[in-house]
Amino acid sequence: MRIAVVGSGYVGLVAAACFAELGHDIISVDSDTEKLTSLQAGILPIHEPLLGDLVERHRGRRLVFSASVPEAVKSSEVVFIAVGTPATESGEADLSYVEAVAREIARCLDGFRLVIEKSTVPVLTNEWIRRTLLAEGAAPGSFDVASNPEFMREGNGVTDFLYPDRIVIGADSDHAAHLLLTIYEPLISGSYAHQKDAVPAPPGARVPAVVISTTTKSAELIKHASNAFLAMKISFINAVSNVCEAIGADVMQVSCGIGEDSRIGRRFLRPGIGFGGSCFPKDLLAFRVIAQERGYDFRLLDEVMRINEEQRRSFVRKVRKALWTLKGKRLAVLGLAFKGGTDDIRESPAIALIRTLLKEGAGITAYDPAAMARAREEFTGDEIQLAQDPYQAAAGCDALLILADWEEFAILDLNRLRAALKYPTIIDGRNLYDPEMMAANGFSYYSIGRRDVVPAPGARVETATRS
Ligand code: UGA
Repeated sequence: MRIAVVGSGYVGLVAAACFAELGHDIISVDSDTEKLTSLQAGILPIHEPLLGDLVERHRGRRLVFSASVPEAVKSSEVVFIAVGTPATESGEADLSYVEAVAREIARCLDGFRLVIEKSTVPVLTNEWIRRTLLAEGAAPGSFDVASNPEFMREGNGVTDFLYPDRIVIGADSDHAAHLLLTIYEPLISGSYAHQKDAVPAPPGARVPAVVISTTTKSAELIKHASNAFLAMKISFINAVSNVCEAIGADVMQVSCGIGEDSRIGRRFLRPGIGFGGSCFPKDLLAFRVIAQERGYDFRLLDEVMRINEEQRRSFVRKVRKALWTLKGKRLAVLGLAFKGGTDDIRESPAIALIRTLLKEGAGITAYDPAAMARAREEFTGDEIQLAQDPYQAAAGCDALLILADWEEFAILDLNRLRAALKYPTIIDGRNLYDPEMMAANGFSYYSIGRRDVVPAPGARVETATRS
């Protein structure tokens, strides 16, 4: 099929490249001409594993980039809207970009087009898109609006897209549903996974993909409710981690014991410094507001957000507990992105924590495998120092803080790290190591929902092994 994808952020760009990978002809549209020039040259604006390979495979053939919505709409059968929906001051989703695209589409319709919401939008946005198209002069039979929410995670975007847990098709007409089923046919039949050059399936992938057909409104709601539920799981385990600390239990054991119940599931039960990113915080707020507007006071969501904020404060208390005073101390920070595997620092708990620690008078030397360029834009002048690797970050520091769950932070050379630090103290906000092993390696080690450990005085330091 000929498909236009308007918006080339994380969702739009991954969707465009993956639709091309499924055999469709894609025009990816963005108003940022600098970004387009880079994309045309094969330079990605984001860090997303496998995306570069797909863009390279299809660029200039099945995947072209354009700044023109009319050009893309005219040469496509369906149009995905994947522009940003940031939060406004009051927590609502700002839908002005969606509205602007809908207006542009209406002005250039020259035959039937299916307009599909891919951005995360509040329920009933499809009705606003319909109204906008009609208000701009589109004939009633010349379009339909459907919802096809995206559930990919940043850092796993390509594999999540090509091997989804489910594909939600929210359509109010058979024709719209049929078009969406056609687009996803290689995933629904399972034929894509058997292609010889297919992106390999991750362990546990569902092939063929499960399809959930719903009304457009239900599809919109599924997206917000899914993100809210996942955020609730994280806040739940973070709350449990506080109880574990208070009574001396181990949250990792508790999480495992809860998660093995198939009704609960293991995923999204990793305790830490609270969730961040451009989705959960924004979507919780927007979901809360839309429910309120419709007369339902969804207070459970307030509690999920409160626990999340408290988890960050609790981490700062942990740092103080480990170091006593912070003024004048130098702290090494590993991880600036909102989680491992991405360069995205939007709503990153690491950035918020660094800001708090700076206010308390600590100096920061930070390292992140992918988010350094974005961090340079975030922090002005010499607010923080940036290091080339974890060991350089640790050099001469009073303690090391682990704030993002990058794989490489879980396999550090502990002997080298201990030698680099002024004092062998680690405060791990992601529970990447086993406390006993850290104590045996000569570290004072503080983590989430587990007991603090300090090396026994005069203990022989063991050779480091991974947790
Ligand atoms: C999230 C959802 O997982 C995706 O399904 C959804 O498509 C996406 O939002 C979106 O709406 O666009 P994402 O924000 O990329 O994806 O990242 P997640 O992997 O969900 O992590 C979100 C935050 O929760 C991170 O800060 C992460 O560190 C934290 N987290 C996650 C935990 O603290 N514990 C966990 O067990 C899992």
